[in-house]
This record gives sequence, structure tokens and C-alpha cells, in this order.
Amino acid sequence: MHPETRMVHGGMDGLADAGVHVPAIDLSTTNPVNDVRTGGDSYESLAGGHPLKDGDSPVYQRLWQPGVARFESALAELENAESAVAFATGMAAMTAALLAAVEAGTPHIVAVRPLYGGSDHLLESGLLGTSVTWAKEEEIASAIRRDTGLVIIETPANPSLDLVDIESIVKAAGDVPVLVDNTFCTPVLQRPLDHGAALVLHSATKYLGGHGDAMGGIIATNSEWTMRLRRVRAITGALLHPMGAYLLHRGLRTLAVRMRAAQDTAGELARRLQTRPELARVHYPGLADSDPRGLVGSQMHGGGAMIAIELAEGFEAARTFVEHCDLIVHAVSLGGADTLIQHPASLTHRPVAATAKPGDGLVRLSVGLEHVDDLARDLFTALDAIRDAA
Ligand SMILES: Cc1ncc(COP(=O)(O)O)c(C=O)c1O
Repeated sequence: MHPETRMVHGGMDGLADAGVHVPAIDLSTTNPVNDVRTGGDSYESLAGGHPLKDGDSPVYQRLWQPGVARFESALAELENAESAVAFATGMAAMTAALLAAVEAGTPHIVAVRPLYGGSDHLLESGLLGTSVTWAKEEEIASAIRRDTGLVIIETPANPSLDLVDIESIVKAAGDVPVLVDNTFCTPVLQRPLDHGAALVLHSATKYLGGHGDAMGGIIATNSEWTMRLRRVRAITGALLHPMGAYLLHRGLRTLAVRMRAAQDTAGELARRLQTRPELARVHYPGLADSDPRGLVGSQMHGGGAMIAIELAEGFEAARTFVEHCDLIVHAVSLGGADTLIQHPASLTHRPVAATAKPGDGLVRLSVGLEHVDDLARDLFTALDAIRDAA
């Protein structure tokens, strides 16, 4: 079946047998067990990272939750993965991947900057017992050590929208698994496992949910990593709440139409913004100068719905611009129905080391589902305010 069809029907099996049209939200924190022996067997199996088997009791919500499992199987199907493991947030998902690397005795991480500021902060802090080597794409092979557990990349990267060539990273990484943060693309626009990556991570808080009302994280991967991640989740407890799982799963049903509509608007806005003299540069993967290697078309289907705008006059111009947007909301996060704008160096990337922080003139736009003319009017009025302030 085509991806659009799988987005609507994935994770929905067995509903008719239960006499319902959408999944029920099961809030049980605990589940009765038949007897001590079989209850103990179920506990052992689930805590060991195995899926729920016929006859198992889920035992306890932290070990297995049916709505979470539905969302996981839907996303795994879309990413062409064997399975997926969902978490309370995107950062909880990243934490679990890092802890699994530590547990395997391979705590060294190689990563390409920029990453989302929170991921950069987590790696740089060493809080989880990892150490990090920041490498450029061409330095990956030489940065790998015997104790390297993961290579981590984002493409397009937050907030610069730089594109990273997944296949060349996978080749350079050799036997070391590559984790791709696919939050900005979603499986509608990019499926990193098809290009050789071992793990795909999403902040589901963004496009997957799509309405800014549910937090979550998810990693789609092979069955071996799935078991390791489930074990970490069972021990550390960062389970996605069943209500969140319901909302995120529901979001998947409209993901393709939302992504394509937002992408069309973003492409048009990026072209219109290029005409403005206040801007030093518009970074948008759909523009030729943002994609010199032609990765849009080969690894990414379209330019996406995120734009990074570099103000020629630096911080003060960026501040005036952001603060004079009216329809567009000044807020962090992205991927929702409404368009958001923010200044990464002040907010999402605030904890990043000074040498790697985004520029002071850079502003990030998450394009939503409004009409392109209304968004263009809002942005152009805010750009006029820079000229008026000069
Ligand atoms: C690309 C990317 N990855 C990961 C995260 C972290 O996700 P969460 O905020 O759901 O923990 C974010 C959050 O903004 C993000 O933009």
C-alpha cells in the first residue's frame, strides 16, 4: 500500500472486532495477572524488551501499553523499520539511545553539528556517561574509535537547515550504527533507514502530532535495538502517556496532507523572502544554493516546511523582526498547524557552546497551514519595521 494509505490505517488493526472505529484510550496503570508464575513470566519477558505475547498480561503500564504499541507499529511501518519504541519526549528518546550505547560498553558518540540545542547540550554535558567528538561530514571515519557506539546526525539540521548526506555518513561510519533525527522531514519527506541508517529518531511533539498539544519521542529501528531501547525504557521510566500516544497516533492520519501543504507554502515564502534586502540569506533546502549536492530529490522529497532567515543587520534586526510578527506566533517548537518564529541563539540553541551557536542574526520559521499571502504580509510588515527602526 502507498504511504498515504498506511498513514491512515497503520496501527488500527483489530478495531472492528472490538466494535469500535478508533482505538480506545486505556489509562490502566496496572493490569491483573492470572497467577504468580505466569505473571512473573510476563514481567520477565516484557522487562527484557520482548513484545507482548498471546497470553501475557501487560503487568504494568511502564512495561507495555496498548495505545503506545499501536502508535509504535504505525510509525515503524512508515519508516520501513522492523519496530519502534516511543518515549515521553524527543529528549527521552535521545537519552534512551545514549544509555543503550553506554550499556553496550560503547559510550563514545560521533556527531555532526548543528543538532537541536537540547541534543547538543545533552551530548556536550556528558551527563549520561557518554563522550562526544564533534565532526564535520568528511571527518566521520577518522573520528570513529573502538568504543564509538553511535554516529548522530540531523538532516535538515536544526536550526541552519544544512543538509547531511545520509549514505555518505553511513559509509564512513562502517559498523557503527547511524542515528538520524528525522523530526524536520517525517517519513513523508525522508526515510533514513532506506539510506542505511540504523535508527530514526523523532520529536513526535512536532509534525507527527501536528497540533502542538502532545509531547512524545519515538525511535524506529531493527528488532535488536528495539529490545535494548525497551529495556532502557522499562528501567528508566520515560514512557509516553496513553493520552499522548492517542493524539500522536491520530496525528499520523493527516501527516501527509499537512506536510505537503506546509511545504508548498514554505517554498513559496522562501522565494518571496529572497527579494527582501534586509535578509543576508534565506536557508531553505528547496532553494538551489541551500542544496549544492542535490540531496532534495535523492534523499529528501521536497524542501520541507522549515525556513531559516539570516538578517543582514544581526541581532537587533532579528529582534525587531520577530517581535513585529503578529499573526505568526513568537514561540519555540515547530511542526504545528500555526506558523511559529523564534531566535535560536536566544532560545532553542541557548545552551550550545559559543563556538557552535547559531548566528545572532538567524531566525527560524516553522511554516504552518495558513494561507501563504497572509503569512507573507505578516513577514513583510515585520521586515518593514526593521527599515522604519533604522
Ligand atoms: C530536531 C529536534 N530533535 C529533538 C527535539 C527534542 O524533542 P522534545 O522537545 O520532544 O523533547 C527537538 C525539540 O525541539 C527537535 O527540534
